[in-house]
Amino acid sequence: MSETIHRVQDSWRKGALIDEATYRSWYERSVTDPDGFWGEHGRRLDWFKPYTKVKNASFDGDVSIKWFEDGELNVSHNCIDRHLATRGDQIAIIWEGDDPSEDKRITYRQLHEAVCRYANVLKAQGVKKGDRVTIYMPMIVETAYAMLACTRIGAIHSVVFGGFSPDSLAGRIVDCKSDVVITADEGLRGGRKVPLKENADKAAEIAAAAGNTVRKVLVVRRTGGKVNWVEGRDLWLDEAASEASPECPAEPMKAEDPLFILYTSGSTGKPKGVLHTTGGYLVHVSMTHQYIFDYHDGDIYWCTADVGWVTGHSYILYGPLANGATTLMFEGVPNYPDASRFWQVVDKHKVNIFYTAPTAIRALMGAGDEWVKKGKRTSLRILGSVGEPINPEAWEWYFNVVGEGRCPVVDTWWQTENGGILIAPLPGATDLKPGSATRPFFGVVPRIIDNEGNTVEGAGSGNLCIAEPWPGMMRTVYGDHARFVETYFSTYKGLYFTGDGCRRDEDGYYWITGRVDDVLNVSGHRMGTAEVESALVAHEKVSEAAVVGYPHDVKGQGIYCYVTLMEGETGSDELRKELIAHVRKEIGPIAAPDKIQFAPALPKTRSAKIMRRILRKIAEDDFGSLGDTSTLADPSVVDDLIANRQNKR
Ligand code: WTA
Repeated sequence: MSETIHRVQDSWRKGALIDEATYRSWYERSVTDPDGFWGEHGRRLDWFKPYTKVKNASFDGDVSIKWFEDGELNVSHNCIDRHLATRGDQIAIIWEGDDPSEDKRITYRQLHEAVCRYANVLKAQGVKKGDRVTIYMPMIVETAYAMLACTRIGAIHSVVFGGFSPDSLAGRIVDCKSDVVITADEGLRGGRKVPLKENADKAAEIAAAAGNTVRKVLVVRRTGGKVNWVEGRDLWLDEAASEASPECPAEPMKAEDPLFILYTSGSTGKPKGVLHTTGGYLVHVSMTHQYIFDYHDGDIYWCTADVGWVTGHSYILYGPLANGATTLMFEGVPNYPDASRFWQVVDKHKVNIFYTAPTAIRALMGAGDEWVKKGKRTSLRILGSVGEPINPEAWEWYFNVVGEGRCPVVDTWWQTENGGILIAPLPGATDLKPGSATRPFFGVVPRIIDNEGNTVEGAGSGNLCIAEPWPGMMRTVYGDHARFVETYFSTYKGLYFTGDGCRRDEDGYYWITGRVDDVLNVSGHRMGTAEVESALVAHEKVSEAAVVGYPHDVKGQGIYCYVTLMEGETGSDELRKELIAHVRKEIGPIAAPDKIQFAPALPKTRSAKIMRRILRKIAEDDFGSLGDTSTLADPSVVDDLIANRQNKR
């Protein structure tokens, strides 16, 4: 197979933290002597009590993962306090508002003061070590304060993306038995207001009905919009913080104490509370941030993700701040006020390292090169991509048009469960192949298993597993360890199964081909087909639903729904709109279906199992190769599905 290769350029190699020889020797040591390797690199953090044990982890049996277990540290201390002596007046966070005229610069000293104040408010409101605090916020600096304040006192945060509905928020509040919610009056994105407080109020009602009372709602003023107020429960957080003490000692935490919960979708059931712990996570995210983005002191770094997703946790906040970096937080969207916004922001703040998602790259590519050329982009040095496979055309456009052929593109593969990046190039070491996430990071041992369960050696494709524990990985599903073991370690014994398909080429490069399970990746947002299906069947006119993904030019995948209606109901465009609105309300706007096909019946086997393979093919408009349909209970169902397909090319 002929593939384009972009060799490491001299300018990338010059001054880079890791060269090819170092990559090879460190990688070798990381997998042959993990205790020695991580024991050494764990010391990149400040430990209140140094660890003497490094790795105590196994993928067998009950799956127990512990790193640095007898060490003690605090994340907010590592992200803030330890930088004060040397870089107290350096900018920690540059905030760029939705409106281009609004921005802020927060130094490490100011961050320290703000986080201490927030931490003191949390304490005064009765939040204690180990309590779960739900954070439902827009992209404002106060969100960073809130998250860091939790880590300072040892509370476990559960950040819920601001685009989720009250129902989704409530489900997450109830699942982790959280009784404190931090939110804002309203969010602001692309000039539009998001009613966060109103949603949080509704979520609190739903949670209460499920037996989980929300005791406190702490509200940050963002827009000044009118909000409903529950006396005794609600508190203006920014006001309380300004009256609180600016000093708050950082609580010493055991390395394996929980740091945060982040809900993510799987192929079955409701979203899982992925639990990350303190020490290993911070070692992993700080180290990957430094080496994969070749972060040097003074660099301005911008990750465009939302803090509601894992990328925001690990690569807007914890990784960069642990490294004493200047990290940019952007409230807005790529196309507001116009499609040159990213490049305007890059020029305005002299961004050196820029990390975004393929869906944004494809959307901006579609808008035309002229928008990119409105910015100079001369400050850019490194470009990153994350969240879904990046197609080679988009990769080349990013490299050639945005980066003008000067900047390496680091395509970073990882998952919420992983904590931080697992497969990615290193700018000064790795030759790049557009569409490949290239090679494993230190300590990461990928293994490919074919559909017969055999290990694929050398070049070949199959299901991507990871064979050895790494420090940043999740420790459990919050409150359900059996589900953790079942979901990730039961498909292939002794291996962590990622749910992704993958190919390894002759050079040992990894090419992620996307999910092999029933998880969709829509514009980099992960969601389970089962979640969308259960939202659909909750509608009174729907009797049955099956949801599959189909290739979408900008979103990567679109959401295609087959819907069987109740007796006596008929499908119409109006009902389509109603169902789309219904799913938006149940889950959130990110789950809005792209296509709805009304189907008198779904293709089922004689044992009543829906044959998704057929539904996927029809959604892709690829029904010439449906394969064997003879096992269907009623093969004629397929003809109707084909005739009424919604995705004719
Ligand atoms: C996909 C986001 C190809 C993959 C950090 C994974 C990718 C899922 C890449 C995790 C990439 C993420 N190339 N696919 N560079 N990055 N994915 O949990 O399918 O939101 O399993 O974590 O996104 O999504 P999650």
